[in-house]
Amino acid sequence: MDPLPFRNRRLRLLDHMAAAGGGVAIIPTAPERIRNRDTTYPYRADSYFHYLTGFPEPEAVLALIAGPSPQAILFCREKDAEKEIWDGFRYGPAAAREIFAFDAAHSIAEFEAKLPDLLADQPALWYSLGHDADWDARIVKAMNAVRAQTRAGKRAPSVTHDVRAVLDAMRLVKDDHEITLMRRAAQIAASAHRRAMLATAPGKYEYEIEAEFLHEFRRHGCQAPAYPPIVAGGANACILHYVANNQPLEDGKLILIDAGCELDGYASDITRSFPVNGRFSGPQADLYQLVLDAQTAAIAAVKPGVGFLAPHEAALRVLVQGMIDLKLLVGSRDGLIESEAYKRFYMHRTGHWLGLDVHDAGEYRQNETWTTLQAGMTLTVEPGLYVRAADDVPAAFHDIGIRIEDDVLVTAHGCEVLSCDAPKTIAAIEAEMKR
Ligand code: GLY
Ligand code: MN
Ligand code: MN
Repeated sequence: MDPLPFRNRRLRLLDHMAAAGGGVAIIPTAPERIRNRDTTYPYRADSYFHYLTGFPEPEAVLALIAGPSPQAILFCREKDAEKEIWDGFRYGPAAAREIFAFDAAHSIAEFEAKLPDLLADQPALWYSLGHDADWDARIVKAMNAVRAQTRAGKRAPSVTHDVRAVLDAMRLVKDDHEITLMRRAAQIAASAHRRAMLATAPGKYEYEIEAEFLHEFRRHGCQAPAYPPIVAGGANACILHYVANNQPLEDGKLILIDAGCELDGYASDITRSFPVNGRFSGPQADLYQLVLDAQTAAIAAVKPGVGFLAPHEAALRVLVQGMIDLKLLVGSRDGLIESEAYKRFYMHRTGHWLGLDVHDAGEYRQNETWTTLQAGMTLTVEPGLYVRAADDVPAAFHDIGIRIEDDVLVTAHGCEVLSCDAPKTIAAIEAEMKR
């Protein structure tokens, strides 16, 4: 455990708070959630809390006090010999303070009693309301406890700032520690996609291919998939969030797989579409090459200084012209883009921020202006085409769904495709599947 990247982020947030007048920030981690009766879902820390602490246990909260001598204080579970026999290791406040480089650490059992004192006489509270009703109630109760001491000379913070808004802006530009993890998460997911190509064959079930991903992710130390994998044979690929993954794969059809892993909190998000039998048919190749050309154009548009929408617009121009050429759409390219008639076959955007969350934190636009890409930002580039059967659609394209999705890091002069190890040209896919 290297606490420095986390400590540096805390110091940056504290600097920001100090520059904005100071105050105290309260950042709780996620609660454990019941799956059924006494069994919980696998625990995952809150992304903001993880970003600032790296501390993996539930029942923890970070308090940051800005000012001339900034303080980072952790509240966490006590050591408990009996509970550790049943449920495993706990750091306890003393070891947590040492290992994670906090200025102080206390038992979470003391948090409610200490919170009014933390808030008292601070100019501002930095907290994000509305995400957890229990936490909101705790904060309100503590604020009222301070207000009740007005006659004793105590003052409650008169201003509340949304601390997540500051953290969203920080999280948008990844530091070296994050980029290293994201590169690795993308490599692992890319190797899982290669493995899936080798495992796919007519007659297998979608879940058998999903199992290849779960195996490959865990084998490399990933804690979990970053989201439920989509393994969609044939027409299922036209269901954007298909996760049933329970159908047999048919000879002559395509399979679309959208699967990425989470490594130490960071997501990869990769989609590949390829033939179940290892050979693209003519119409499949036509549509596939069109999506690939659109993706190539979109990736070429990823560079510092352009707006977030630039890759989407580049993909759209290629896709819409291609759909006209393949007789999926009738009209002029610009007219079809203007009228959004293409949305019948391409109904999502070409990407999103990627990081601790698969759809990561960060503004996409401020009023009418799209966020400007800068080095260190990470996003997906994922054009697709989803052609449902219909009388006015050429029969050769019926029920074909294709998406090609890569994870991209904006660099000083362009971008780096983090997921480039997953084959995606027609020749590369067919060669991989022949192995
Ligand atoms: N896998 C979710 C997405 O591609 O956005
Ligand atoms: Mn995505
Ligand atoms: Mn995806």
